[in-house]
Amino acid sequence: MCGIFGIVTTREQQLGPILVEAGKRLSYRGYDSVGCAVIGADQAIDLRKDVGKVEDVARRHAIAEMRGLRGMTQLRWATFGAPSHANAQPHLDSDGDMVGAHNGNVVNNVELRAEFVAEGMTVRSTNDGESCVHAVERYVKLGLGMVDAIRKAYDDLEGDYAFVIGRKGEDCLYAFKKGSGLVAAIGDGFTCVGSDLPSLLPLTRKIVRLRDGEMVVLRGDGLEVRHVSDGEVVEREVEEDSETMEAAQKGGYPHFMLKEIHEQPKVAQDLIHLLNASKHLDRFVNRLKGARNLYLVGCGTSYHACILGAVYLARLAGRPAVPILAPQFLAQYLPALGPDDVGIFVSQSGETKDVLNALQAARAKGAGILGLVNVLGSTLMHASESYLPLACGYEISVPATKTFVNQCVAFLAIALRAGGHGMEVLKDLPGLIERTLQGVDVPVRDLAPALMGQEDMYCLGYGLTYPIALEGALKLKEVTYAHCEGMLSTEFKHGPLSAVDEGFPILFVGGAEDTGLLVSGINESACRGARTVVISQEEPRLRANAHHMLVLPGADPLLAPILAVLPLQLLAYRLSVARGYDPDFPRNLSKTLTVD
Ligand code: M6R
Repeated sequence: MCGIFGIVTTREQQLGPILVEAGKRLSYRGYDSVGCAVIGADQAIDLRKDVGKVEDVARRHAIAEMRGLRGMTQLRWATFGAPSHANAQPHLDSDGDMVGAHNGNVVNNVELRAEFVAEGMTVRSTNDGESCVHAVERYVKLGLGMVDAIRKAYDDLEGDYAFVIGRKGEDCLYAFKKGSGLVAAIGDGFTCVGSDLPSLLPLTRKIVRLRDGEMVVLRGDGLEVRHVSDGEVVEREVEEDSETMEAAQKGGYPHFMLKEIHEQPKVAQDLIHLLNASKHLDRFVNRLKGARNLYLVGCGTSYHACILGAVYLARLAGRPAVPILAPQFLAQYLPALGPDDVGIFVSQSGETKDVLNALQAARAKGAGILGLVNVLGSTLMHASESYLPLACGYEISVPATKTFVNQCVAFLAIALRAGGHGMEVLKDLPGLIERTLQGVDVPVRDLAPALMGQEDMYCLGYGLTYPIALEGALKLKEVTYAHCEGMLSTEFKHGPLSAVDEGFPILFVGGAEDTGLLVSGINESACRGARTVVISQEEPRLRANAHHMLVLPGADPLLAPILAVLPLQLLAYRLSVARGYDPDFPRNLSKTLTVD
């Protein structure tokens, strides 16, 4: 996820080291390119940027030497538009009079770029941060002052983002917030603004919180907050922040896992915006439509999303697809693979060795390679003919949560488009995720003590919720170290039922269409002593039969599995913490498995 930082001082100084350190503090958010710009007392703009790590870009471009009164840093996490020097931020306007950078996504970027070119502006990249600068330039050229030009630009730029910009011949920077994080701060002889608290905290603890729809005008000796809507000044108190750096990075949550679980409404919203607004989805879908055989390849959590993807593709597009664990793909399908076949390779990191082995073998046979990937610039992204980004930002916690949800969202969008359906069903999803997280929070906390000492559990699902049962079981195993097996519910009677005795915990996950099956499954195991937990929409028959119920909001059956994973993530988290473990870094595991 990108990050921005801007600073205005009362006297010209070497701003380079301050910008580099701010960049390092933003780096935990994930990035592939770095850029810094300063404006000196002589009003010249010095802009240096490149692809690479903060330290490397700083060394290659001697950023420490940069002097000025005003400065900004941007770390870019590529979404669409490859990581490149041109796409790295900040960006200049056509005449090099303004410089700006953003964090987030401008979803009408393609349309805006065409307009700017038609209006005679110089567009140098495909990056949406550049569109923010030209959107302001458009109104400055019409004679508006910066505050009014920014207010107009705000209306033209659709999406969720935050933006900072400076202009020659002035003494201030401007920034505004529209859906992405942005915090301002006041120090001794400077003011600053950044995407998050960690970018600011070592410089000052005097914080000014900004809300969506507000802009801030920063000068060396003070700042003013204004409403974008009418330009009026807003009175906003200065807060003294006492958080530690680590606590600030976790955004007030005790662990990254919990923070990332609660980011799910936002990342789902971002991805839905992006997929609606880009041509990438069409390209991707056209490529898979013509395939003779279609394989969905991944490991761990990503493999579970592949199973749900196959169910969606069959239901919505009548398109058979084979979900397969990457190493097993080599044994089971590679010998029969041909150039007419296509694989969608799914990986959060884009670096999982098992996945890359399968990808290379498929490529050697001439098969089509598509990627679903979170980390852009990764090996998977480069190896794919076409890719879709998961747009989750950096996932720090080892257990995958928000990336699983967006893998499912991406597969649902692919299946809808492949089947010629509209995307309307997706629009309610971010709100439903939010409601689910709120609704199950207390019930999950209440349930945790009942499962606390259990070392063996089953998690059963059916149809759309089968992959959710596998994913819930994996989450529980991964962070609680207890054994939890995920299974198709109908398979349970074919063997595992013999393990059930007094108090044996079984989690049933189901959609509204599975009520009959759930009721039989619950009774079959409860009469042998099992303690049953049901995760489903409200249904009197389920409530009457199960010992515990975690209720999901009513939703389209296609969305129900995505909602059902949320209580399981929270349950795994709560049990892990109650057992005294660190859910962010489970023992023996690594976030990115680059070994065989
Ligand atoms: O980066 P990837 O999606 O390729 O990783 C695959 C698995 O290692 C990963 O999903 C793993 O199962 C998760 N840590 C589970 O939470």
